[in-house]
Amino acid sequence: MSEERKRIVVAVTGGSGAAYARRLVRVLLQADCEVHLTMSAAAVQVFAQELKTTINLNEFSPESFLEDEFDSARVDQLKYHRQFEFSAGIASGSFKTDGMAICPCSMGTLGSLANGLSANLTHRAADVHLKEHRKLVLVPRETPLSSIQLENMKRLADAGAVMLPAMPGFYHDPKSIDDLVNFIVVRICDHLGVDTKLMKRWGSEA
Ligand SMILES: Cc1cc2nc3c(=O)[nH]c(=O)nc-3n(C[C@H](O)[C@H](O)[C@H](O)COP(=O)(O)O)c2cc1C
Repeated sequence: MSEERKRIVVAVTGGSGAAYARRLVRVLLQADCEVHLTMSAAAVQVFAQELKTTINLNEFSPESFLEDEFDSARVDQLKYHRQFEFSAGIASGSFKTDGMAICPCSMGTLGSLANGLSANLTHRAADVHLKEHRKLVLVPRETPLSSIQLENMKRLADAGAVMLPAMPGFYHDPKSIDDLVNFIVVRICDHLGVDTKLMKRWGSEA
C-alpha cells in the first residue's frame, strides 16, 4: 500500500439499496482507495432482486459485483473476504484502516452491532472500528422504524458510529435514480474523508 492510499472496509448486508453498494465501491476504487469488501448471504439475494446480478460468495468475482462499473485497472485495489473469514486483517484492531461503511445496513446487522454479537466478519470488523475509535458509517434502510430499531441506532450513534440512513434529498434537482444513489454515496465518502467529484454541492458553484 502506498503512503497516501486510504484503506476502507465496505460491508454489504441485506438491506434494500444494492445500487448504493456497487456505486460506493466503484467510487472508492476510482479515488485510489484500497477497498476491503465483505458481503452477507442476504445481500446476495438483494443484488439478485434489485440489480439482476448473481454473486457467488465463495468464488467472488469483482466483474459480477461491479458489472458496468467494473474497471480492470483498479481490480488489484479490491480485496474480498468471506463472512466467516475471521482470520482476515479487518477482524483485528492491529490492521490499520481509514474507516468502514456498512452499506446498506440491514436492521438485523444493526441489532447485532448494537449488542456486540460479532457473529460474522461484518459484525467483527465494525466492532473493531468502534473499539479503536475509528470511523464507522452505517447506512440503514427501513421504514417505518420500531422503537427497538431506533434504540439500536441511538446506541450505535452514542458508541461513535455515524448514522447515515439511505434517505436521499431532493433539493439538488435529481434527474435520475443515479443522481439519488450518488447523493448518498457522496455523503458516505465525505464521512470517510474520501474526495469525490460525483455531484454539485449545495451552496457551491462547482
Ligand atoms: C429483496 C430484499 C430486500 C430487503 N430489504 C431490507 C431492508 O430494506 N431493510 C432491512 O433491514 N432488511 C431488508 N431485508 C431483509 C434482510 O435481508 C434480512 O433481515 C437478513 O437477515 C439480513 O441479514 P444480514 O444483515 O446478514 O445481511 C431484505 C431482504 C430482501 C431479500
